[in-house]
Amino acid sequence: MRKPIIVGNWKMNKTMKETKEFIEAVDPAAASENATFGIGAPFTALSTAVAAANNLIIAAENCHFEDSGAFTGEVSVPMLQEVAVTHCIIGHSERRTMFGDTDETVNKKAKRLIEAGITPILCIGETEAQYDAGESEKVIRDQLTGSLADMCAKCVADIVIAYEPIWAIGTGKSASVEIAENCCRIVRDQVKVMYGEEAAEKVRVQYGGSVKPNNIAEYMAQPDIDGALIGGASLKADSFIEIIEKTK
Ligand code: 13P
Repeated sequence: MRKPIIVGNWKMNKTMKETKEFIEAVDPAAASENATFGIGAPFTALSTAVAAANNLIIAAENCHFEDSGAFTGEVSVPMLQEVAVTHCIIGHSERRTMFGDTDETVNKKAKRLIEAGITPILCIGETEAQYDAGESEKVIRDQLTGSLADMCAKCVADIVIAYEPIWAIGTGKSASVEIAENCCRIVRDQVKVMYGEEAAEKVRVQYGGSVKPNNIAEYMAQPDIDGALIGGASLKADSFIEIIEKTK
């Protein structure tokens, strides 16, 4: 049985003060044996978030695959280990489109995180043009082929993969339950193709893209959707608590 995992992705939002207030307000609601709840926070807020959280897991939103060196502005995995995050979002479409992440760099980041014992939340998803052209399945399979290349089956079984169609991110135009389930099933099938049945059954697949308190339950009721990666609706304590309560 896969344990559901719901993670808020704050993106470039919240100061340390705002982080402390949010975590203190939301953390008690996140106590659950049945599901994992967490927040992806900006680097500057991670220590504050980790210190304030007892139940929420805390994720970074990116990392570099090298441990140190001349990479101005980057943050390495050992640095993340030091602040004691347990998860790290990698390959978000905003990073792929605006900051040069590719399947190859995402693959390197995933491997380095796994080596460090930090769980990658690996994001993939097609653009609106690719969706309109009927290329969603091909894009999903190609992105996973690159991003999950040359890893061990046990490692892949333990990661989280977030399917986030770009056309549904921040648009309020969430994917229908049928599309989300179908694409998450394709994600699982591609893991099976690459790493076998056991890894495919164990890997957790999230849907992301305009998930809100009023639609979380229908996504979570789908057999291949094990959780959600949530942007806008994770920024307000009230709406994130509502999402948590509907998932518990
Ligand atoms: P929204 O929930 O705001 O659509 O953002 C989704 C997302 O990008 C999560 O990573």
